[in-house]
Amino acid sequence: MIYEPAEDSLLLKKHIKHYALGKNLVLDMGTGSGLLAVEAAGYVHKVIAVDINPEAIKHCRKTIKKSNIEFRQSDLFSNIQKDEIFDLIIFNPPYLPLDKDEPEDSQLATTGGRKGYELIQKFLSDAKAYLAEKGEILLLFSSLTGINDVNRIIFKNGFTYNEVARQHLFFEDIIVYILK
Ligand SMILES: C[S@@+](CC[C@H](N)C(=O)[O-])C[C@H]1O[C@@H](n2cnc3c(N)ncnc32)[C@H](O)[C@@H]1O
Repeated sequence: MIYEPAEDSLLLKKHIKHYALGKNLVLDMGTGSGLLAVEAAGYVHKVIAVDINPEAIKHCRKTIKKSNIEFRQSDLFSNIQKDEIFDLIIFNPPYLPLDKDEPEDSQLATTGGRKGYELIQKFLSDAKAYLAEKGEILLLFSSLTGINDVNRIIFKNGFTYNEVARQHLFFEDIIVYILK
């Protein structure tokens, strides 16, 4: 299953231009349909867009013909080279707590772990090594992920954050942070 762009994708998309404009290399982590990679590609030299889901990468390669986007299958940074250093990383991660009734293939796009924040934790523990000195991370998550937990993980990994946007949906707020 490829994640169908939703409110979270659109909220993040709105803020890409401001943080991407004029940058050299951008990483779109968990690219899904490629929507955010295409948006970023309009403002930067090159975008590397990765997803753990091979079906998403196949779909993006087939449907998106932009010469400055490279699509790759990767589990977080597993297929990123050590000398690929990004000015901006964009991530709309799976951020919901596990719901055992949800089918496994859609869990891959929605579920961040048992509590919801585990994938963000893994991502942030590796991300610094791939960021330029003044590099930034545009990260989306939900009040259901646990705002205090996300804040704790951010500080623990040596980042600071500013809140860029917040939108109330039926059962949750979705939140965009910029991390430095
Ligand atoms: C909420 S969707 C966002 C998709 C797209 N960026 C958007 O905003 O519409 C999360 C995406 O992260 C991908 N993903 C999940 N675990 C991942 C991992 N460990 N490494 C890379 N991508 C992952 C999923 O396959 C899915 O495409």
